[in-house]
Amino acid sequence: MILVTGGAGFIGANFVLDWLAQSDETVINLDALTYAGNLQNLTSLATDQRHIFVHGDIGDSALVTSLLAQHQPRAIINFAAESHVDRSILGPEDFIQTNIVGTFRLLESVRAYWKGLNGETKQDFRFLHVSTDEVYGSLAKDEPAFSETRRYEPNSPYSASKAASDHLVRAYHHTYGLPVLTTNCSNNYGPYHFPEKLIPLMIVNALASKPLPVYGDGQQIRDWLYVKDHCSAIRRVLEAGRIGEVYNIGGCNEKTNIEIVHTVCALLDELRPLSTAHSPLTTPHLALPTYRSLITYVADRPGHDRRYAIDASKIEHELGWRPTETFETGIRKTVQWYLDNQGWVSNVQSGAYRTWVEKNYQGRL
Ligand code: NAD
Ligand code: TYD
Repeated sequence: MILVTGGAGFIGANFVLDWLAQSDETVINLDALTYAGNLQNLTSLATDQRHIFVHGDIGDSALVTSLLAQHQPRAIINFAAESHVDRSILGPEDFIQTNIVGTFRLLESVRAYWKGLNGETKQDFRFLHVSTDEVYGSLAKDEPAFSETRRYEPNSPYSASKAASDHLVRAYHHTYGLPVLTTNCSNNYGPYHFPEKLIPLMIVNALASKPLPVYGDGQQIRDWLYVKDHCSAIRRVLEAGRIGEVYNIGGCNEKTNIEIVHTVCALLDELRPLSTAHSPLTTPHLALPTYRSLITYVADRPGHDRRYAIDASKIEHELGWRPTETFETGIRKTVQWYLDNQGWVSNVQSGAYRTWVEKNYQGRL
């Protein structure tokens, strides 16, 4: 069996669902269920005995040690993290705690477990750490995309805490021989994405006729990858990645934020057209109402990275991985998923979610 941490969050839940759709190998899912963790992402596994959910913290060494001893996983995939840049700006402490201290404690528990293994079990064991392209910092317009040898230049408390965790993972391989793999991926999008991040926020705000807040000039660039393609890349790295190596994962799909927002609006105009009666336009009789009219430029994010882009040639050439979705197919599926899962959306928009939205956007608008 494998142990997944953070498997109730956006990417982790997609990973667990995909894993069990393709394999009968049991998944132990350790998740602290922070605001970003949601067992509703996994309701389809409620009676599936191949999924063992454990509510707990990666930094709880006693719990992790006993889970490892009891279940003897052949691999660990570490998704657990605080993941939202804006939250890291308004309150960095949790990022230091989970992303740095938590990863350190997890590595310590795993090191002790791995040391006690023998023969092939020890040889085949893997610790796969899931990280981000944000550790590399910001690219100028004409610079080449991030390769694995790019210098680390994290700019936000989030990316700095992820960079620290990557360095710890590297050091545990170099110093103790722990068989690690690290993946650095670009921005993901798709089902179960918590609506604090750009794409789901734009979809849920548009559907509620709320402003679509674009930070700064909206010209920042991200390299978007459909979440299921990220999951397939992680499976491939786990299967065939070389121990101690880093693999960059990306969609080869750079878009400005404003392009993303325009695309979301255009899809919603097609799939859930605004009726003239509900149009936010002041002159609905002059033009067809469009969600674009909700776009509102707001104060920029402090330290906002201008551009991220991934050079994914290493994983492609070494492991034969390529994304299967184009942005056009992936974003259409994503918007449709949010339209089909309005119950999920309203459940995640709890009191705590509303407090966050108020805190982050009040001063910007
Ligand atoms: P997320 O915030 O949606 O989910 C994180 C999950 O981790 C949640 O279920 C949360 O409950 C859990 N968690 C948080 N602290 C924990 C702790 N101390 N112990 C156990 N569980 C804990 O994040 P995500 O977008 O799914 O990202 C998953 C991983 O992928 C993160 O490591 C992130 O840095 C990385 N990543 C994300 C993206 C992206 O675009 N979202 C891109 C590249 C890499
Ligand atoms: P986000 O989804 O938070 O991912 P990250 O910061 O990790 O790349 O943001 C993606 C981009 O969208 C980023 O440049 C910030 C921008 N953005 C907005 O313009 N408005 C928003 O309300 C949010 C949440 C993000």
